Amino acid sequence: MKLPGAVLALLALAPAGALARDDGARLYDTYCSSCHGVHGEGTNVAPPLIGKSAADVHFMIDSGRMPAPAPGVNEIPHAPRFTYAQIDQIVAHVMTLPGQRANASLPVVQAGDARRGGRLYAENCAQCHGALGDGASIGANNVAPDLATATVFQIAEAVRAGPGVMPRFGARALSDRDVDDIAYYVKHVETHADDRNGPNAGGFPLAHIGPVAEGFVAWFCGIGALVLFIRAIGTAGSDA
Ligand code: HEC
Ligand code: HEC
Repeated sequence: MKLPGAVLALLALAPAGALARDDGARLYDTYCSSCHGVHGEGTNVAPPLIGKSAADVHFMIDSGRMPAPAPGVNEIPHAPRFTYAQIDQIVAHVMTLPGQRANASLPVVQAGDARRGGRLYAENCAQCHGALGDGASIGANNVAPDLATATVFQIAEAVRAGPGVMPRFGARALSDRDVDDIAYYVKHVETHADDRNGPNAGGFPLAHIGPVAEGFVAWFCGIGALVLFIRAIGTAGSDA
């Protein structure tokens, strides 16, 4: 007996759909639950994932920070352990854990204005990541990493999620357009660093960015206050 094509297609799709859902749960159980708890409730070695936005969860896996090799090990960005599809499945699973009400949408990055982004970057990011995004030590063993390997998507996620000691910037602190512009600026600096008229022109790494060098020391001392300030406004406008 011959089944109509539509039925065959349905038969082929249904188990695949079910599998995709189960995959997220299975991957979560295997790679995350031992530290974060079966229901994302947290344990004494890792914080709860309930209340964490999709941007946060996606960023932590996509940047290779999670799954952490062992509790207490300092995670450093590296290639993700999972495929993009698997990351989406894990994130989807975390967003449907019982009691989860955090923002389940991921940031969408559109083409931005690198010049405007440069100004915003200087105001909000340079004090930690360096004027050209090449990273800096920010004290107490914390390093603001080089942004060279971060994708525009990871930049947007990090801004919204605030990994580690980095402040979280809510929509009131930086609009979606601001984030687009910053992401494009960071990638622009990186790809045009050696251009004659690029941001690195004349061997003066701070060109086009303004008086950051002189202000650097001041910025540095002001970071504590600044972070508190950003946290306050960032969280007030929180969408996480
Ligand atoms: C070996 C233990 C361990 C495993 C396994 C692990 N984590 Fe984590 N995770 C931690 C610890 C510890 C922290 C808190 C320290 C930090 O943020 O770096 C953390 C932090 C996080 C955060 C940030 C939470 C916040 O406060 O913003 C997210 C999101 C996360 N983990 C997701 C995951 C996911 C998803 C997996 C599975 C793919 C996973 N983790 C596997 C230990 C672990
Ligand atoms: C107070 C200092 C501070 C400020 C301000 C700050 N960051 Fe960060 N940023 C950090 C630290 C520290 C980390 C590493 C966090 C971790 O791994 O736990 C980080 C991580 C990141 C990452 C992840 C890099 C990677 O390779 O995984 C990106 C992207 C990023 N920051 C972008 C930005 C942007 C864009 C801004 C400005 C809107 C900004 N940061 C402002 C300190 C800061």
